[in-house]
Amino acid sequence: MTKTSLLAIALALAPLSSLAAGPRPELQPSARFSVYGHGAAATPPMGWNPWNAFRTEVTQDKILSVAETIKRNGMQKAGYRYVNIDDGWWLQRRADGGIQIRTTMFPMAASRSGPPSLRPWTDHLHAMGFKAGLYTDVGRNACSQAHDAHSPNLPVGTVAQREIGLEGFEASDLATMFGEWGFDYIKVDACGLADFGEGSKALASATYREGRPLIVRADAQATDADKVETAYARVGRLLAGLNPDDDFVLSICPWGEAGVGNWGGRHGNLWRTSADIEPNWDSMLHNFDTASRRELYAGPGRWNDPDMLAVGLGEFDARHPVEARTHFSMWAILAAPLLVGFDLNHASPAQVAMLTNPEVIAINQDAAGNQGRIVFHEGDVQVLVKPLAQRGERGVLLLNRGNRAVQARVDAAQMQLDPGEPMQVRDAWAGRDLATSGAVLEFDLPAHGSMLLKVRGKPASGDATALGDISGRIHVAVDGLSGYSARPAEVSGTPRVDATPAGQPLRIAGTTYARGIGIHADSRLEVKTAGEFSRFQALAGVDDAAAASGGTVQFRVYGDGRLLFTSPALARGQAPVPINVDVRGVQVLELVAEAAPEAGSAAASASRASTPVVAWAHADLR
Ligand code: GAL
Repeated sequence: MTKTSLLAIALALAPLSSLAAGPRPELQPSARFSVYGHGAAATPPMGWNPWNAFRTEVTQDKILSVAETIKRNGMQKAGYRYVNIDDGWWLQRRADGGIQIRTTMFPMAASRSGPPSLRPWTDHLHAMGFKAGLYTDVGRNACSQAHDAHSPNLPVGTVAQREIGLEGFEASDLATMFGEWGFDYIKVDACGLADFGEGSKALASATYREGRPLIVRADAQATDADKVETAYARVGRLLAGLNPDDDFVLSICPWGEAGVGNWGGRHGNLWRTSADIEPNWDSMLHNFDTASRRELYAGPGRWNDPDMLAVGLGEFDARHPVEARTHFSMWAILAAPLLVGFDLNHASPAQVAMLTNPEVIAINQDAAGNQGRIVFHEGDVQVLVKPLAQRGERGVLLLNRGNRAVQARVDAAQMQLDPGEPMQVRDAWAGRDLATSGAVLEFDLPAHGSMLLKVRGKPASGDATALGDISGRIHVAVDGLSGYSARPAEVSGTPRVDATPAGQPLRIAGTTYARGIGIHADSRLEVKTAGEFSRFQALAGVDDAAAASGGTVQFRVYGDGRLLFTSPALARGQAPVPINVDVRGVQVLELVAEAAPEAGSAAASASRASTPVVAWAHADLR
């Protein structure tokens, strides 16, 4: 088709009003990679947190003895650096605005003149070679106050004295924790914004002030996501200001509520995608599922957090080595933070060996920071592929979620490798190469079993770099779902690598494309090209998964804010438009897909039930 005839179609299909109005503000290029960009989380944080083992029944001695064990048993060397304090460390808010530390729990804090300080604690951990983590809440009160009513370690005193959360004290509390006390990591919980509303259990005790909940769990409509985001954004800004050396980690903890999955990476280094993990198989699977389709949100400095590891506890204890290893492999392939949560003083040598396996940890800590993505899911079998920093290398997890033995397979195409070229396959847990032939790898997996591989081959994209192989360098600036946040992610989907948001193959006008990005319009992706590439090529079009009456979409490409490419308005069923642009020197490439309102009805677009699914197929940099 000639350029002129394409243009004619464009003019016929695109309601002029929408194009004349110019792009929506959030679809304007930002010319930057708009992630948080602060903190020391280039790879997923690793460490230990006492919550899953001790809840609030924790003391200085218990934590120290675990820290000493981590130092002695090889875990510190393997990368576990953060030793964190969770809920329970506070006694009350003082009249001068400071927080009184519970010195019965941390006698070390009382060892100085003046108000207790946790500086001796962080000094001690630092001297042991660890980083020190602390816990607070973004609201006025903490989670134990709502959910651990029988804890002996709840804040005491008047209603005001029990308000140990950050709200109203953000700047001074964080200055104390990071400036005076010297912490390196903070987990900021959110119960203060969720659990102290009218009718809540906590309020009935008459020891807390009522607050209109900004988070109503599992109810996106009643949740005020913007206010929650604003509160965390403030914490992120304050921490960046307090830590000019960027040696800190901000863990955001609203349990997947308030759309945190979409904005967490703009304000912090990790964000919880789900409710608390419980030490059983189903809970572990559930938490995994809340993160496993969000590969486009993770990257160096920002990680989906399906919660701390339950390894060592319940159905993952020493009597369940298969489940423990599979759980650990799942967190490894996701590039999830690795925060162990059991009393390591009771760890068996086999458990320590598991937690310190160098090749498995290397997959989790790979410098590219790509999160593994699901390339196959049928019945109980899932296969995830994580492109590694070394060109053509992938971490691959074959996973049996069910309780019957299965056979699982993965082929070269699923790994985005050239099936005609040889592959080297290594069993990561065993640390040995596997003799393989052909382009298909097959394994028998016992109930709850898995196989974690490192595979090396020739990328299917040849000499080019597929965007899917550098998903850690992509930021979903606008996901095409805003305004539809009331719908759970399972229904509306999230932008995906090599698949539509619903997990189907990318398909434009009847042709299937093996690689690319699937996303809804209106959307904007930022790609950190960092001046390393010279051309960007793709085939952009409305995916066949879009509704037949879905209107048209215009595709635009920007390099450092400069318009490099504009497509005509394309409807479902139309052939994709080829893109081939010069990106030499470009630091940030932006891919925009903007839907035009359905013909004749501008109002209809505002109330659209869904937005068209689009595909940036064969989107490659070279
Ligand atoms: C929960 C949080 C847990 C733990 C607990 C402390 O909200 O998800 O990881 O920190 O609070 O009370």
